[in-house]
Amino acid sequence: MDGNGRWALARGLPRLAGHRAGTDNLRRVVEACVEFGVKYLTLYAFSTENWGRPIEEVRGLMRILEDVIDRELKNLHKNGVQIRHIGRLDRIRPSLQRKVHQAVETTKENDRLVLNVAFNYGGRDEIVCAIQRIIADNIPPEKVTVELVNQYLFTAGVPDPDLIIRTSGELRGSNFLIWQGAYAEWYFTPTFWPDFGKEELLEAIWEYSRRNRRFGQVSPPQEK
Ligand code: IPE
Ligand code: MG
Repeated sequence: MDGNGRWALARGLPRLAGHRAGTDNLRRVVEACVEFGVKYLTLYAFSTENWGRPIEEVRGLMRILEDVIDRELKNLHKNGVQIRHIGRLDRIRPSLQRKVHQAVETTKENDRLVLNVAFNYGGRDEIVCAIQRIIADNIPPEKVTVELVNQYLFTAGVPDPDLIIRTSGELRGSNFLIWQGAYAEWYFTPTFWPDFGKEELLEAIWEYSRRNRRFGQVSPPQEK
């Protein structure tokens, strides 16, 4: 969800106004995903590197997430959305931790759309965390397989992403689902996140449907 800051700058507004506009856009995109039959959606909301931003912006982003949970939880629950969190909750203030736990707990039986919120998330951090837990569990080296690592990631139980969308014209992955996205298709658009709506989501899905996924083989593997 990139480009909030530039969206605000282009309107002469403070960056946090861009982040607010970005969260207002969430409802539209989540509802479109429910409508289109998307089963898993992961939103990259705050990375482990975003702590390096000015303190007022970091505080503002934390506050905005709290507000979003307060404002949207009921509606998401009503729409059958299951909320999950990926990333680390330590370092996050207790009031926000409680809200995240509450959102996850309230919606855990829902199955129309699994919404993973990547907050204080980094792909490298996730892999380090998985390695630490594999070692702590005394797993013998020969038992360490791709499937086993999958089970130790924050995304355990969630299939690999088919399509990753990055807004705002940047052409990079920025530590997002680096393990899980090994064979994801990418869609890049210059649109800033607050302006990324249902039509463009549909366009991204159309483009995805025309891709020829071979997973390193000559023709697409069966059963994929
Ligand atoms: C939102 O966009 C992404 C978050 C970290 C919340 P940015 O804040 O990165 O916006 P730009 O890149 O400065 O335009
Ligand atoms: Mg950015």
